[in-house]
Amino acid sequence: MGQPHPDFPGVYLFDHPLIQHKLGYLRETTTGHRPFRALMAQIAGLMVFEATRTLPVRDIEIDTPLERARVKRLAAKITVVPVLRAGLGMATGVLEVMPEAREGHLGLARDEKTLQPIVYLKKLPRDLDAGPVLLVDPMLATGGSAVEAIRILREAGAADLRFLCIVASPEGIMRIRAADPAITVYAAAVDRCLSEKGYILPGLGDAGDRLYGTASH
Ligand code: PRP
Ligand code: URA
Repeated sequence: MGQPHPDFPGVYLFDHPLIQHKLGYLRETTTGHRPFRALMAQIAGLMVFEATRTLPVRDIEIDTPLERARVKRLAAKITVVPVLRAGLGMATGVLEVMPEAREGHLGLARDEKTLQPIVYLKKLPRDLDAGPVLLVDPMLATGGSAVEAIRILREAGAADLRFLCIVASPEGIMRIRAADPAITVYAAAVDRCLSEKGYILPGLGDAGDRLYGTASH
């Protein structure tokens, strides 16, 4: 479903028709916050299949109605960490297909003048090293927020760290891979470039505002 990106090592790109179809609607200006929310969750739910392909499983024996059988169970504690606000829109979809995952939260706001991330919330499980950590944020623009989120999660013990975004810029990908070469990035699209104001082009606008209906214009 996800393919290694030909130009960016460590990046998986989703060319699946369902994901691309939904992404087309997400980009469209006329898509209001209600469908936007649903589409973002659906895309994240589809992406999670690929991003969790290598999760460890263990065999156990159980009783079925007819006999004993060996089945598989997820073997590690999985943690989903959305970057607030917009990452919450993806976490909903991820948790729908993987309800056993724990959820940590990182609140980061990008200062629109300096484009620097400001951390305003950090609530994480203590044992982040107990299994894979899925960091979710729909937009990887300058990469400032993602680099800061990755730094915090590594410091908190995350060893197996995977970053899921919906739209990435080439600049953002290069920045986070330079900061943390071990990170795997899953993206539904790598767009053309960043605008002067640090928006992804064509992108989908301000993801948080579109998700929550808080755009002021
Ligand atoms: C958006 C987005 C990322 C960040 C990406 O959040 O969800 O966290 O911008 O930009 P960057 O790669 O240049 O750092 P924003 O700061 O707008 O906050 P919000 O989700 O609360 O609207
Ligand atoms: N944050 C967004 O929500 N969109 C962008 O294009 C860049 C940063």
